Order: sequence, then structure tokens, then C-alpha cells
Amino acid sequence: MEEHFAHNLHSFWSILLSLFFFFIYSTCSSEPDVHIVYLGHSAQHDHQLTSDLHQQLLLNVFKSEEEAAQSMIYSYTYGFSGFAAKLTSDQATTIARKEGVVSVFRSKILELHTTRSWDFMGLPLRETPDYDEAPQSPSSSTFGDDVIVGIFDSGIWPESASFQEEPGMGPIPGTWKGECISGQNFTPSTACNRKLIGARYYLTGLEQQLGPLDITPDTEYRSPRDRLGHGTHTASTAVGSIVHNASFFGLGLGTARGGAPRARLAVYKVCWNKTGDGTGKCSEADVLAAFDGALRDGVHIISASFGTSIAQLLPFFIWSADIGSFHAMQKGVTVVFSAGNYDYSPDPSTVKNVAPWSISVAASTIDRSFPTQMVFDNTVTILTVMGQSLITTQIDANLADASSHFYNGTCSRGRWNNRKAAGRVILCFSTMGLITSAEAADAVKKAGGSGLIFVEPLARQVPYVDVVPTVYVDIYQGTKILHYLGSSEWRPTVQITPTRSIVGKAPAPVVAYFSCKGPSALSPDILKPDLSAPGVNILAAWPPNTPPSQSSSDTRSVNWNFQSGTSMSCPHVTGTAALVKSVHPDWSPAAIRSALMTTASTRDTNSEHFLSGGSTKPSDPFDIGAGHLNPTKAIDPGLVYDMKASDYVVFLCNLGYTQEQIKMVVLPGTDITCPRVQTSNSNLNYPSITVSDLRTTVTIMRTVRNVGRNRNAVYFPRVISPSGVEVVIWPRSLVFSHYRDENTYYVTLNPRKRSEGRYDFGEIVWSDGFHTVRSPLTVCVNNTGDGAESMSYTNI
Ligand SMILES: *[C@@H]1O[C@H](CO)[C@@H](O)[C@H](O)[C@H]1NC(C)=O
Ligand SMILES: *[C@@H]1O[C@H](CO)[C@@H](O)[C@H](O)[C@H]1NC(C)=O
Ligand SMILES: *[C@@H]1O[C@H](CO)[C@@H](O)[C@H](O)[C@H]1NC(C)=O
Ligand SMILES: *[C@@H]1O[C@H](CO)[C@@H](O)[C@H](O)[C@H]1NC(C)=O
Repeated sequence: MEEHFAHNLHSFWSILLSLFFFFIYSTCSSEPDVHIVYLGHSAQHDHQLTSDLHQQLLLNVFKSEEEAAQSMIYSYTYGFSGFAAKLTSDQATTIARKEGVVSVFRSKILELHTTRSWDFMGLPLRETPDYDEAPQSPSSSTFGDDVIVGIFDSGIWPESASFQEEPGMGPIPGTWKGECISGQNFTPSTACNRKLIGARYYLTGLEQQLGPLDITPDTEYRSPRDRLGHGTHTASTAVGSIVHNASFFGLGLGTARGGAPRARLAVYKVCWNKTGDGTGKCSEADVLAAFDGALRDGVHIISASFGTSIAQLLPFFIWSADIGSFHAMQKGVTVVFSAGNYDYSPDPSTVKNVAPWSISVAASTIDRSFPTQMVFDNTVTILTVMGQSLITTQIDANLADASSHFYNGTCSRGRWNNRKAAGRVILCFSTMGLITSAEAADAVKKAGGSGLIFVEPLARQVPYVDVVPTVYVDIYQGTKILHYLGSSEWRPTVQITPTRSIVGKAPAPVVAYFSCKGPSALSPDILKPDLSAPGVNILAAWPPNTPPSQSSSDTRSVNWNFQSGTSMSCPHVTGTAALVKSVHPDWSPAAIRSALMTTASTRDTNSEHFLSGGSTKPSDPFDIGAGHLNPTKAIDPGLVYDMKASDYVVFLCNLGYTQEQIKMVVLPGTDITCPRVQTSNSNLNYPSITVSDLRTTVTIMRTVRNVGRNRNAVYFPRVISPSGVEVVIWPRSLVFSHYRDENTYYVTLNPRKRSEGRYDFGEIVWSDGFHTVRSPLTVCVNNTGDGAESMSYTNI
């Protein structure tokens, strides 16, 4: 009954794959460019032999061994087989046709999923994070001790209190094969310890692609040391040691700690301060080198808060993220990615890092806000307005309106009258989002202004650390202030009181306005993002010589900083995955992800369905996946939906990859029989259930394993049906007599309405009275067409 899926998928993918599988993702330029040649799993245990094979392949397109060796950038031989080399597109095409080559693609430049963009064409691509009480991790002091977490990011500030050894930390696990590499301002003997057990950096790919790193003005370190701050921040969120009295000038005061404070940290620096705009740049050639290194070193969890800035529409295996995480999964290593950020409200299908063998994390707010009081006085009346801010000192100044002092009525850089702005607090409207607060603050700073009141749409309202004190207000409040300014002859003064942080002000969480959304354009039958975690104003460790606002005119030095972005939510999931791994060392990446997803919550502090980005629209699975991370429950999920490499084989078969192609990427010994009839990928044993094109009755199968300690556990289902869809579950109960027993259940979905393809949402919850195992059920009924074979992926 599901064959129609197969047909559509098949025709679609066979067209795409015939174009793309042995595929050159390249421009037609004849200039050599960094290409990645991917050869699948690493067949040889002899790494020299694999390397020699790479040289041999290159010799097909170079005249001499010297030339071939010169073009070679990396040879990947541990986690998988492949290499990065400088090739013209002709050379790339020639190599792509050789036997044993899975794909050839141009190394793309990826971006960190945070940090604020200064020069982003006036478009607010805003991202910043914080945390302190964010992950409510269990207090057991041994949690995480044996787990090694690899952070792929902008490096580390090793002196931060977050990376000092916890008292009583045991010796470095014997399985660890990694190293602490020395480099500029980085001495292994002082930088590394039992907490920070490994540090490497990868730069060759980036320098080949974007030119040599300029470190003369002390803007980067040719070493694992962090210049951008992002890597220090994410590492401390994931696995930072417990540090008391952490705050940003007193704001967010509390105890900082990672989700798994006792886990070991291995740093792989792949993102660099290259363009000077505060956004880290990461080359895919370097990212794959980090995967290769981390899989050799023996990490258990990998966290990567970066990705493409565009939605992923091309097939799997021509992206570093897919390739690296696929081989990590086969080695039992969990890979956690950020879902990506966007200005304002992201469109559907903007979610990044969508491979079903990894985790993609959305961002939401935490239960904390930063009210800041402004009192305006024009000697006739007084106006009080509350905004949001991260201001740490009191300000008393005259108020000025940007439109009267800034050229052309905007606050953008270089367009103001310095004389009139000096010493004042400037009111700036950014209702169309044409300017970021970072740009406006920079302009105010340069004009000698003393503060900024930044007016923006309600949906955003995320205060950032700016180079001048900035209070964020919505349009209603902004208009009130503007009218007040115009209501009197007298120039008003404003007094801004330092921000207080308030915890417990409902409702939270709310989906962050910038968090990218599903469905996955690439495989819509797998729900992405997978889940959501705190990613707004997260307080975490920061290098003391990186300005907290990332503006070079900011002279403050801090050990903790606020940042927002899916970059910050990703390491919350990483830390929790490390906790789950330490309690259940034998669990597969799929089982760990299942535990994280099925215990996630969709309710906020008011027990209501949580909201999407400051609006009154309830969030749906495309915003938050299975829901909001719940670390305590994830350790004891009751049941898990597990998957093996052979399950992903079926997934790939269903997308139209042939057995021969799949054989190249999976480890020898994996069962690679494609089903005789292609089925829908809705049947992948994923912890969420998605049917992206429901035309007629369909039955989906799932298998769950008992991981609760109760013998004779009996689970009963509770169903919320998506609107217009009849849902029948069979059997009506699942009995597990032993730990690790498995049971299969079936969900029959029957469309009871006519619809042209609109998503509706429900859920399936299995419970034994102790555990609640919840899966979102996402269904798109599409039965008004003629039912003829047609592609369901019109957006590609
Ligand atoms: C906490 O930190 C602040 C500054 O960061 C410092 O002034 C204060 O003395 C610290 N308090 C304790 C108890 O360590
Ligand atoms: C990054 O590099 C630019 C110059 O390219 C520099 O102005 C900026 O200060 C650097 N960022 C940091 C945090 O050092
Ligand atoms: C004001 O800004 C708009 C939009 O950026 C631009 O088209 C226009 O030319 C500007 N006016 C002046 C006087 O610069
Ligand atoms: C619904 O089905 C029609 C063909 O019957 C197809 O063209 C369309 O893309 C489908 N819509 C969705 C959202 O899948």
C-alpha cells in the first residue's frame, strides 16, 4: 500500500542520482580549487596503503609524483577514505569517473551558527548565546567521567575556569589516542590536563581556499587557541567544569557548568577568524580532517555548531557533515549539529544538517529575562518604559532620535551627525530589520553616543551584548518614546537603570526567532530538526581578550559572555548525550538520540504548548522536532527506537542509491540488501513519525526496545491524531518481560479529508506508568491530485 511513495521517490532520486552520484560539485573554472574526493569506508587497516591509493588516483591527472604530492592537501585514512586536493574541474571530472570514487565535490566554506554579522548587507543575521542554569543535569558526581566529547569549533581558551580539572577526576581514559598539539600561544603542558585531554587545529584547507591567515595584528592564533570566543563558549556549555560566581558584570550570576561537567574535552579547531566580520569560516576539507582525526583519537560524541548558510538541497555524501557523521555513526560515535540560524522568522525547509544518522538541534529561550527600566524626563511629564537589555551600569544622558541626527533617517554606519549624537542615547527604529543592533551600536559608538534604544519587531526581542549599552524595545514602546520626544520643546533626558535578570517569568521555553525550520527538503519523511534546546542568551566561558560584543572598538575583558544561536543549543544536546552515554556506554548513536527525543517536552512553564518566536502561534514539530531537551529524563527513557547501519542502508536504498553504491560507504559486514520493493522512509525506525505525502491508507512500522529496569513492563499507547487523519495503533499494548526485549507495533494512517498537502500534527505516547515515550506524528495529506505519478519534491 505504500508503493506509490516508492515510485515517486524512485523516479525523483534516480534522476538526481544519475546526475549527482559520481558527482562534481564544481564551477567550470579551470583554476585549481580545493576538491574533496570521497572513497567511502576505509578498506585497509594499513593507512599507508590507503594514502598510497590516494596518490595513485591523483597520478591519473598529474604528470609527475611531485605535482600530485603538491596538490594533495589531506589524505583521510582513519574514519573513512578520501582526500582533499587542489584540482581543476577537468581533473575532478576525470577522477570522479575512476572506479571506487563515491563522490567528488568542491570544498565549501561553512559558517559558525552564531556570532553576529557586522557587514551582512544590512540584514540582521543575528546570533548570540548564554547559559548558566540551563541544563538541569543530575547531580551525580561521576556522570560523564569516561566520555570524551570532541568539539569542532573555533578552538579553546584553555585557561578558562571551565576547563580546569574537577576535583577527583580520574586518569585520562586508556582508550584515548589523541594529542594536545602545540602552536602559537598554546603550550600543551600548561593548556591540557585531565579535563582538556586533546587539542588539534586544521587550517590547510581554509588557507588554500581563502588565502593565508593574517595573524600579524594578533587577530588569530595558529594553534588550538580560540580567538573568536565561539569555541570556548560551546565547549563550556557542553562539558564545562562547575564554576561558581559566574556572571557577565553581575548579570546572570550563578554557577556555570556544562551538561556533562565531568566529561573529557577534545578540541578540534576548524573555524577561523578569516574575514574579520566576526563570523568564523570553516573549510569542509578541514572539517573532514577533523572527523578523520577525532574518529582515530577515540571521541564518543562530536559537537559541531556550524553548517552551510543555505538550505541543503543536494544529495547526501557530497557534504562534509553527512560523510563525517555517517562514518562516525558506524563507529558508534554520536554527532550533534546545530539546525542553523536565520534572520527574522525562517521560512519552512531552512533546517541544516538533516542526515538521519546525526542530530539537528533547534534553539529556544530559557526561563530568564532581562528587564531594564528607562525613565524619560522632559521637565513636564515623566515616561517610564521597560525594555530588554544586558546593561551593567547606570546611564544618565540626553535622548536623541536617530532620524533627526542620522543621515537619511537610519542608524546605519557612517550616516549621522557626530556633533549631535555625542554623549546622547540614540533612539533607532529597525522595524524592517534593515539594520542590526550591532551595526547601530557600532555607529553610535563611533559618533561618541552613550547608548542606544533599539526598536524592533516584537518577534525578536533577544538582547545582545553590544559595544554601547543597548536597550531593546518593541515597536509599540518605541513609538511611545518617539511621540514623547516630539511632545515637548524640551529635550528629554533618560535614565537607564542596570538590567536585572529575572528567572521564572513564564512562559518559557519559546522557540527562538532565528531557529531554522523543517521539513527537511532532502528527506521530508524524516523529521528535522530533531529537538530543541536553550539557545538564547546563554552565559558561558569567554576568552578574556576577545571583546564580548565582538567589535574591535569594545575594550571590555570578560570571562563569561552571553551568546544566542543554534550554536548554543547544539552543545546542550551534546552535553546531555554525553551523560546518557556515560550511564549507557553500550548504546548506539540512534538509541542515544531516541532517549533525547522521546523524553523531550512540548510544554512550557505554564503547561501550555510552547510558542513560536514571540508570536502567539504554538510551536510545531518543524520548529522544535520532538520537543525541548529534558536531560534528567533522557537518562531513563524506558524504551528506545534503535537503528543499525543496515537501517540506514534501507534509507539509502529508498532514496534510489544502488547496492553497489551503498557498499562503498558502509563498513564490510553490514547487510546491504535493498528491499525488493522500495518502501517509504517513514518506516525508518526513527523516534518521530513523519509521512510527507499521505494519499491513501498507509501502515508504518516501529520497533522499540525495553531499556527500563522494570521486568514485565507493560506499555499502553495514547494517540493524538493529526486533524483529518484516522490513526490506529496495533497492538494495543506492548509487554516486555526482560530488559532489552523488543516489540514491534504498527500505526495505520487513514486520511479522512481531502487536502492538497498541508501538514497536521499529532503524537503517539507509550507509557508504562513510569516512563513516557513520546513521538511526534507529522502527516501531510495530499489526495486531491489525480494520484498519477508525480514528483513530491517540487521544491527542489
Ligand atoms: C564573584 O565575582 C565578582 C566579580 O566577578 C567578585 O567581585 C566577587 O568577589 C566574587 N565573589 C565570590 C564569593 O567569589
Ligand atoms: C578578527 O580579525 C579582524 C581582522 O581581520 C580583526 O579586526 C578582529 O579584531 C579579529 N577578531 C578578534 C576577536 O580578534
Ligand atoms: C536613503 O536611503 C534609500 C534606501 O537605502 C536610498 O534609496 C536613498 O537614495 C537614500 N537617500 C539619500 C538622500 O541618501
Ligand atoms: C501533492 O500531490 C501532487 C500530485 O498529486 C503533487 O504535485 C504535489 O507536489 C504534492 N504536494 C505535496 C505538498 O506533497
